Amino acid sequence: MIKHSAPLILLGFSIFLIHCKKRKEEQLNESLYDESMSSSLVFYKGVDSTYTAAGGSPHGPFKLKFNTTASAALTDNGRLPAGSSFPQGSLIVKELYSGNLLTTYVVMKKDKESRFRSEGDWVWGEYKADGSLIYSAGNKGMSCIPCHTSGSVRDYTRSFDLH
Ligand code: HEC
Repeated sequence: MIKHSAPLILLGFSIFLIHCKKRKEEQLNESLYDESMSSSLVFYKGVDSTYTAAGGSPHGPFKLKFNTTASAALTDNGRLPAGSSFPQGSLIVKELYSGNLLTTYVVMKKDKESRFRSEGDWVWGEYKADGSLIYSAGNKGMSCIPCHTSGSVRDYTRSFDLH
């Protein structure tokens, strides 16, 4: 009896593990979306500007924001000094606009504790303004990293040499 139920127990356990991973992924996407909307984020160079996408960017017109942990590292005239890295906990949010309408949050967060981190400890996600998912952090930035490692790059970011 016990012998025959072993495969079932294993199957049940695998489903349970997959479920847990999915739930963790959902929670991460929810928290990245919430953090993207935080009113404590600061604008790039302290100015509320809309930038035109450059450098082959797929993102369109945008505003650029940082949490206080990330902004503390912007010591080269508001930029990350070439060759240095963002500290753990840094959050970078690109708000995409269509006219005056905020449509999308594109997010990078530095988190070495996350099981969904990729190279450089970055976690990558993209959400519509209403919170619905465009690009899950569970993908570990696979579609993002090729661009964010080509051209002039500062710790996987592109803006500092373009804007
Ligand atoms: C085709 C190239 C390309 C792809 C793919 C891409 N990006 Fe970007 N990204 C850029 C460029 C170039 C910039 C610099 C700002 C600009 O001009 O748009 C940028 C800027 C950013 C920024 C602001 C910080 C920085 O790097 O300057 C974030 C956050 C970001 N991208 C997240 C993502 C995420 C998340 C993905 C994947 C879902 C992604 N990007 C995919 C090219 C790309």
